[in-house]
Amino acid sequence: MTSTLGPPPPYYENRGFQPEPPYAARPAAGAHPYPQLFSTNPPSVPSYIPRVATHQSTRPAAPPPRRTCAASLRKTIIIILSILIVICCAIAAFFIWYFVENNCLSSLIECGSSGVCMSPSQWCDGVSDCPNGEDETRCVRLFGPNFILQVYSPVSKAWYPVCQDDWNDDYGKIACKDMGYSVDTYFYSRGVPDVSFKSYMKLNTSAGNIDLYKKLYTSGSCGTGSVVSLRCIECGLASKSASIMNRIVGGSGAVLGQWPWQVSLHVQGTHVCGGSIITPHWLVTAAHCVEGRLSDPHSWRVYAGILNQDEMLFRSGYKVQLIISHPDYDTDSKDNDVALMKLETPLSFTENVRPVCLPNPGMMFQPNQQCWISGWGAEYQGGKTSNNLNYVAVPLIERSRCNAVYIYNGMILPTMICAGDLAGGIDSCQGDSGGPLVTHHHSVWWLVGDTSWGTGCATPNKPGVYGNMTVFTDWIYKNMQANR
Ligand code: ARG
Repeated sequence: MTSTLGPPPPYYENRGFQPEPPYAARPAAGAHPYPQLFSTNPPSVPSYIPRVATHQSTRPAAPPPRRTCAASLRKTIIIILSILIVICCAIAAFFIWYFVENNCLSSLIECGSSGVCMSPSQWCDGVSDCPNGEDETRCVRLFGPNFILQVYSPVSKAWYPVCQDDWNDDYGKIACKDMGYSVDTYFYSRGVPDVSFKSYMKLNTSAGNIDLYKKLYTSGSCGTGSVVSLRCIECGLASKSASIMNRIVGGSGAVLGQWPWQVSLHVQGTHVCGGSIITPHWLVTAAHCVEGRLSDPHSWRVYAGILNQDEMLFRSGYKVQLIISHPDYDTDSKDNDVALMKLETPLSFTENVRPVCLPNPGMMFQPNQQCWISGWGAEYQGGKTSNNLNYVAVPLIERSRCNAVYIYNGMILPTMICAGDLAGGIDSCQGDSGGPLVTHHHSVWWLVGDTSWGTGCATPNKPGVYGNMTVFTDWIYKNMQANR
């Protein structure tokens, strides 16, 4: 975490990725913009001189010359035929593309990219039909800042909120398990009044002891007028209040309980990266932290609820059981720079060790939303790891702005989000990677991003770049679910 305003020379450069689209050279003025498929000479059509019929004609008008007529007819037919051939080729090309891209016919749904097709009725029916069970992994989600439970209808290919009528915690626990949470962390399920929806999923309680999703049917009405708000874990609470945070300008030392989801990830007794607690078993970090030989879970020790690095040296830390890097992570561009760590033994939550909330789909962060970063990273460009945990407030920077030529010139992909001050002076730095970028919204702390990269540290017009957590939430749940 950098907090100095001094101008150390930038030395860290992000390599690779030249996203400039190769624009075609502009044709010379007056040049024909399209390839000439047909002659530009107008087809010779017999031209008639309109004759005004007089009262008496002595001789019938001479018939148009026969040879010219036949030739022009042939030409017209050739033109029409060529146009038809071009249209047929285009249609054929479209169908070839369609079947290569989507292996399944329109009424079927493909299992991942396996080429195996399933009927929509087999999707979300409680029975795993796909080779990797994809038909049952994405049937529920939590939407927006109020954690509205939504269920996917494969038939109408849409998400519906669940009507609170007859809903109870037992159903809530099933839905949480399906997202990858353990029942041990279940928090609550309650109805929230909402009239913005037109269709709902309703429980058919007389359906007997069958799978939850088979009991749900779509309906245009909901008796209570309330939809289910589901919390699978009590996340996003910090025991230290905002009054302390008001003091910060340009970075300061944290107190215990202020950023309880922050962890320090060690390799051979040294801090290497940061991470964020999302459940007792799972942490989020950056994919670039666990590259190469560091992808071995045995290399790592995890420290939670401790402010100072020197204190960690006397502790044993938590062992890592599994590391999952995003399959589409790209070393050069830092596209999809996110990874999951599963601990061998679960963390016990206390005042100082708590999870942060993963952002739900449908959450809108304001273009300049105030966020906070924390970590043990260098306090100035080229400096060493900090002994104490630091934090600083950073506003988000709109992607289009961050992609400006004088800032990151198109290197900010949809999986990334910029935050910081374009004037410089505040930023994350080496050693903060993998750690949290959080915001406080609807009285909950949300994980907006994970520290990923930047040119130098706190350099003007080179803000910090973070993994865009909202686009990773789905991937995270899928992997938690598959590795329970
Ligand atoms: N890649 C760095 C790390 O491994 C984080 C760099 C963040 N840089 C910045 N200017 N915000 O710790």
